[in-house]
Amino acid sequence: MIMFGPPGSGKGTQSKLVAGHFGFIHLSTGDLFRKEIQNNTAMGDIIKAFINRGILIPDLIVMRELYRYALQFKNVPGIVFDGFPRNPKQAANLDKVFHKKELRIALVVSIQVPDEVLIQRVLDRGKDSGRTDDTLGVMEKRLEVYKTLTHPVIDYYKQTRRLIEVDGTRDVRVVAKDIRKIVKVAGFKK
Ligand code: AP5
Ligand code: MG
Repeated sequence: MIMFGPPGSGKGTQSKLVAGHFGFIHLSTGDLFRKEIQNNTAMGDIIKAFINRGILIPDLIVMRELYRYALQFKNVPGIVFDGFPRNPKQAANLDKVFHKKELRIALVVSIQVPDEVLIQRVLDRGKDSGRTDDTLGVMEKRLEVYKTLTHPVIDYYKQTRRLIEVDGTRDVRVVAKDIRKIVKVAGFKK
């Protein structure tokens, strides 16, 4: 499944919960990149420059890191993609790879939260998260990038897949319960 939403909408929080509940793998591209930075690799240096400006990492790097990580897992009941795909090109690439491997995207959950709440959440988290992109200036850029490059992915999935919208302004547990229900309806069992 794909957990979709703007920065600060709760993709990470909800992906962890749903993955824990159903035994899925949680695959956050943002977390993968931050790990690369922490490990001080040459790739980490390149990645850092993009993240600190709030802009997207080039698709080729994203795909390479993502598939390298995902290929370690065999016979898992599911994967929750968090922060990927981030533009229609990534979405089309995922389709191509899944088609080849006879896998399917069961569901796309789109978490909806208004901008002012997103900004407040990210600034609050920035006080102790250590995330260099949790500042007002970078968050404004992340939101702009989301609206111009990432949001069109919604239209892509509206045409081709099952897309379900969830109100992400409610309590974390209430949102999580909704998402669990949606996943069950899509045919997955705990
Ligand atoms: P990424 O790491 O994906 O960050 P993001 O999309 O900007 O979003 P966040 O991780 O900040 O928020 P979230 O939606 O996960 O919410 P969270 O659960 O943390 O990407 C970072 C960067 O990496 C990008 O800018 C880009 O450079 C690069 N990148 C990543 N993927 C890429 C890709 N595929 N292609 C190209 N570049 C890519 O929650 C946020 C806060 O709110 C937390 O403090 C949480 O506790 C709180 N919260 C959550 N839910 C609730 C709730 N219901 N009520 C109150 N508070 C809540
Ligand atoms: Mg996240």
